Amino acid sequence: MTDSRDKKTTSAPKTAANQAWGGRFDEPVDDFVARFTASVQFDRRLYREDIQGSIAHAQMLCEVDVLSGEERDQIISGLEHIAEDIAAGNFTWSVAREDVHMNIEAALTERIGSVGKKLHTGRSRNDQVATDIRLWLRHQIDDLTTLVGLLQRGIIDLAGRHSDTIMPGFTHLQTAQPVTFGHHLLAWNEMLERDYSRLIDCRERLNQCPLGAAALAGTTYPIDRQSSAAKLGFAKPSENSLDSVSDRDFAIEFCAAASILMTHLSRISEELILWTSAQFNFIHLPDRFCTGSSIMPQKKNPDVPELVRGKTGRVNGNLIALLTLMKSQPLAYNKDNQEDKEPLFDSVDTVADCLRAFADMVPAIVANKDAMYSAAKAGFSTATDLADYLVGRGIAFRDAHEIVGKSVAYGIHKAIDLSDMSLAELRQFAPEINADVFDVLTLEGSVAARSHHGGTAPSAVAAATLRALARLENR
Ligand code: ARG
Repeated sequence: MTDSRDKKTTSAPKTAANQAWGGRFDEPVDDFVARFTASVQFDRRLYREDIQGSIAHAQMLCEVDVLSGEERDQIISGLEHIAEDIAAGNFTWSVAREDVHMNIEAALTERIGSVGKKLHTGRSRNDQVATDIRLWLRHQIDDLTTLVGLLQRGIIDLAGRHSDTIMPGFTHLQTAQPVTFGHHLLAWNEMLERDYSRLIDCRERLNQCPLGAAALAGTTYPIDRQSSAAKLGFAKPSENSLDSVSDRDFAIEFCAAASILMTHLSRISEELILWTSAQFNFIHLPDRFCTGSSIMPQKKNPDVPELVRGKTGRVNGNLIALLTLMKSQPLAYNKDNQEDKEPLFDSVDTVADCLRAFADMVPAIVANKDAMYSAAKAGFSTATDLADYLVGRGIAFRDAHEIVGKSVAYGIHKAIDLSDMSLAELRQFAPEINADVFDVLTLEGSVAARSHHGGTAPSAVAAATLRALARLENR
C-alpha cells in the first residue's frame, strides 16, 4: 500500500495537539489513537491528485477574488515544489498530521509562510478526498482500459491464426460439439469487451467534481464550481453537496467491474490450466510463465494462470469490504469512509498486474493442433450433426435423437467414431442415411456448417476476427 519512494514517516508526537483542528481540545490525542485514526500511511498515494486539486482550487479562489494573484502564485509554486520533493523521496510524512491532505497543507505553510493557510478557504477534507479519489481512479481506469485493449489485441490476433484449428467444444466439461480454437478465443474477447465497457461506464459516472461541497453543506464564499470542475477535467460539478462528500458508489462500482473482470480472467485461467495438463495437452505455455517443482523434476506448473485465478478471491473480498463499509452509513461524511482506499487500491493493483501478465502470456500460447483434433474426434462430437442430417431426411428430431443415441452406443462398443463407420453400419440404424452423410460427420464438415454470424465455422471466425479488430481500433 505504501509508495516506496516516500520512505520517511514520523510518528505522532506525544505532547502537541493537532495543529489543523486542535483548537478546541484540552489534551493532545493519544499516541495510539493518532496512529489508529491516521491514513497517511496509505493515502499518501493520492499526493499527485491532492496537489492537482489544490492548484485548481487556488486558481478558482483567485478568479472569484478570494485570493490575490500573488497569493495564488505563491501557493501554486509551493505545491509544485512539494510535488517534486515527494516524487524525489525528499518529503517526510507525519502520522501526527493524519492524512495526505494535512501533510501537504502543513508542508505548504512551512514552505511559503502563513499564506499557505489560506488554501483551505471554502473547502474541507471531505470534498477534497472525494475529489482526490475520483481523479486518481479516473487515471487508473484509463491505464486499465489500455491494458484490457492490449490483452484483447493479443487474443484476437491468436484467434485470427486459429480460425480453422479444430478442438472439442465442451458443456459440463464433456465433449459436446467440435468448435474452432479461434472461436473459443473470440468468446474470451467478448467477455473482455464487456469488461472494457463496464470500466468506461464507471469512468463516466465518476467524472463529476465534488469540490465546493466543503464539509457537507457547501460554502459561503462566492466559489465557481464550474471553473474548478473544468480545470480538473471533470464533465461537471456534482449536484448535491451532501451526496458529494458521502458517495463512494464509484469505488464500489469500480470494484464490482474489477471482480467481474477477474472472474473472466479466472475462467480463462482455469481453461489454460486444464489445457496445459498432460491429460488435455491442448496448449503449451512458454517456460517464462511457468515454474518447476523442487521435488518432481518433470513438473512445469502454470503458475501465472493459477495465481490470477487465486487473486480473484482478494478482488472479490475488496468489493464486499466496500459494500459492507457503505451499508447503513447515514449522510453525509463519516470517518468510516477512510477505509475505502486500501480495498480500492488493492483491486486496481491486482487487476493491473493480472492484465499485464495475461497480455504478455496469451499471444505466446502455442496450440497443439493434433491433440485438439484427436480429442474432438474422440467424443462423438458430431452426433448432433447426424441428428440434424436425419431431420433433413424427414425424420422427427426426437426420433433422430434416439437413432443417433443407438449409433453412438454401437460406436462405443466398437471403439470407433461415427465418421469411421461404414455406410452399411450407419444404415442399420436408419435406412434414410446416404453416402452424403460423411460430409456432415467429419469435424471439418461439422464446423463449416455453422457459418452464420456468431458461429464456429472458419469463415465465420475469420469475419468475426475482423469485426473484433475494427471495434478495438474504433475505440
Ligand atoms: N483521511 C480522511 C479520509 O480519507 C479525509 C477526510 C477526513 N475528514 C474528516 N472530517 N475527518 O476519509
